[in-house]
Amino acid sequence: MPDGAVEIEAVQPERTADFRRAHEREALSTEWNFRVIWHEQRHEFAATRGETVVGVLGLRIAASLAHVDSVIVAPAERRRGIGRALLDSAERLANYYNCHKMTLEAPAGLPAQTFFEACGYKLEAILPQHTWKLDVAVMRKFLL
Ligand SMILES: CC(C)(COP(=O)(O)OP(=O)(O)OC[C@H]1O[C@@H](n2cnc3c(N)ncnc32)[C@H](O)[C@@H]1OP(=O)(O)O)[C@@H](O)C(=O)NCCC(=O)NCCS
Repeated sequence: MPDGAVEIEAVQPERTADFRRAHEREALSTEWNFRVIWHEQRHEFAATRGETVVGVLGLRIAASLAHVDSVIVAPAERRRGIGRALLDSAERLANYYNCHKMTLEAPAGLPAQTFFEACGYKLEAILPQHTWKLDVAVMRKFLL
């Protein structure tokens, strides 16, 4: 048993980088109970008109799962199919990387949820009193 009291402190990510490199793979395999090779990717999509960006989508891919971090269309450009086109491109890329599922979180009962439903996403769970203490809809679309 090592000597000395253990203290907990808030640190910058660099302070723990070596520890993560040394232990993360073993920890994931223990956590999931199989040999895990975790490769995380982040992709950014832009909808452009000429030089102008009119919409964006951020996508994270890891463990056969694609997660939409955010999709934003400029207010003056909404309801012209740009959001749907951004999602379509993200789904095609996720499919290319063999993701079986797209997932995302949206405020429950607000227009964002209606948008994702119109794009084929289903409600998977409600997280009660979540972000800003509001209910959040976890939504998904199976790709395969
Ligand atoms: C949600 C958002 C990305 C939708 O982008 P968009 O380009 O306007 O969406 P689309 O034109 O592709 O809409 C596709 C369909 O979704 C539905 N939809 C889109 N916006 C909607 C709204 N405000 N209310 C109800 N339904 C909506 C409609 O069925 C629409 O088809 P239709 O216009 O033919 O009726 C955009 O409104 C936005 O940026 N909102 C603010 C940020 C946000 O809430 N992001 C989502 C959570 S990360």
